[in-house]
Amino acid sequence: MGTRRTGKIVILTGAGISAESGLGTFRDEGGLWSQHRIEDVATPEGFARDPALVQEFYNARRVQAAAARPNAAHLALAHLQEDHRGEVVIVTQNVDALHEAGGAQSVLHMHGTLAGALCAGCGHRWRAPDTMAVGEACPACAAPLARPDVVWFGEMPYLMDEIFGHLASCDVFAAIGTSGEVYPAAGFVREAAAYGAHTVELNLEPSSVVSAFAETRFGKATDIVPAWVDDLLGQTVRS
Ligand code: OAD
Repeated sequence: MGTRRTGKIVILTGAGISAESGLGTFRDEGGLWSQHRIEDVATPEGFARDPALVQEFYNARRVQAAAARPNAAHLALAHLQEDHRGEVVIVTQNVDALHEAGGAQSVLHMHGTLAGALCAGCGHRWRAPDTMAVGEACPACAAPLARPDVVWFGEMPYLMDEIFGHLASCDVFAAIGTSGEVYPAAGFVREAAAYGAHTVELNLEPSSVVSAFAETRFGKATDIVPAWVDDLLGQTVRS
């Protein structure tokens, strides 16, 4: 048993944590953004221009995500949430539900989720069908404006006040499987560090913001995340 108290831990995850569950990342070779243009499928303007293309893109991702199973990294984070004496907050940019499937509690989905539908007219939310059709009516206001409840470029990510509150009060901040290309998430490390947190990057390769981290661990998420969790739980003062 070590002597270091790790207190509250905030963990940011990105597409890299789900890669070994078979879900493609965005910016790796052959990733989603090499097959689709962001402005076509991940912006409100793209949806206004060609809603069928956008629904088709997310319908395919919904089918793929439903077939995926959580991997050892998702399971390790759920284990950390259960066994760590302090609070463990998981913030994810991922729209899959693999953290929850792996047993994690209270995951903050800052980029929304494939499981949700959102009315572009009145903002009502409901559970998305497996296949969303163009012009599907909102169950609350009947406008034919159903869209996936995912955050697109040019839109404000969800839960920002709550997340920045956690960043200001955590002892450890870790980013797992994210390239550091997309803000505000890429700025979380500097925010947490400014409030005195120890910062750790766990990734296959150094991210764009690697220099902001105090500690780095490189490798596949299924190897390095369980090892990091073991280290953390071993360090925690259990008295
Ligand atoms: P990216 O595709 O940008 O980055 C994935 C990261 O995961 C890279 O740094 C890879 O090196 C790393 N990686 C790949 N395989 C891994 C593995 N097996 N183990 C560990 N790491 C691995 O994905 P994100 O950073 O999540 O937003 O992308 C951020 C946002 O950009 C997404 O939420 C999405 C996208 O556009 C929106 O659509 C709004």
